[in-house]
Amino acid sequence: MMPEIDLDYIPNHVAIIMDGNGRWAKQHGKERSYGHQVGVESVRVIAEEAARLGVKFLTLYTFSTENWNRPEEEVSALMGLLMDSIEDEIFLKNNISFRIIGDTTKLPAKVLERLNSCIESTAGNTGMCLVLALSYSSRWEITEAATQIAKMVEQGKLSVDGINEQTFATYLSTNFMPDPDLLIRTGGEVRLSNYLLWQCAYSELYFCDIFWPDFRKEAFYEAIHNYQKRERRFGKISEQVN
Ligand code: IPE
Ligand code: IPE
Ligand code: MG
Repeated sequence: MMPEIDLDYIPNHVAIIMDGNGRWAKQHGKERSYGHQVGVESVRVIAEEAARLGVKFLTLYTFSTENWNRPEEEVSALMGLLMDSIEDEIFLKNNISFRIIGDTTKLPAKVLERLNSCIESTAGNTGMCLVLALSYSSRWEITEAATQIAKMVEQGKLSVDGINEQTFATYLSTNFMPDPDLLIRTGGEVRLSNYLLWQCAYSELYFCDIFWPDFRKEAFYEAIHNYQKRERRFGKISEQVN
């Protein structure tokens, strides 16, 4: 049964750690890469559903900095899949704009070219923004921000007194988005794996055992339903937030 959700309280920003493709494939007696292929279909379903529900930002952990350490054939299979799955059509059909965050200099030139072309052709779309975290890790991002800030101070363009949480956040690659309201991790592991550490300071965390290729509409609704039952207090007491 489809869990009931309140359309007036949809999380603005949903971040997802899409995990479990390899184990799903193994369970089905297939190569890991098959799990990644079917996982792409989950991305399509969830992106369309999120856009339809009115989610403004959907940030998907697609490839971490640490994932570069996987066997070469898996890395190249993932890059190939990325190249083949980025189609402008689904973005245009659903009025979705496309962005990427991460150390994209590490990506193969052809892949980056394809991604950039999609970013350009969807830039005018006014619906949901779909963000892929690629070659991304939080510690990389925070270190980059600190380095940039140090350079600005060195060049006299920023004063030390001008550094606060708000200004710091403008140096992060997520500076165009609000913090995630809901972070979902599929695949059963209960960890953040270097994802959006700064940004998830006050996000609601939701972990589920379903492997990413099986994570479809009903599971997504369940996550949102669960989110909607929670009381976000941000350090205050219940009486203050009600
Ligand atoms: C998530 O699935 C996709 C990526 C990390 C690229 P995994 O490939 O990590 O699958 P498991 O966790 O090994 O099952
Ligand atoms: C996290 O999954 C990265 C992505 C989903 C892209 P991993 O499978 O790489 O995470 P760990 O290594 O099990 O923590
Ligand atoms: Mg994994």
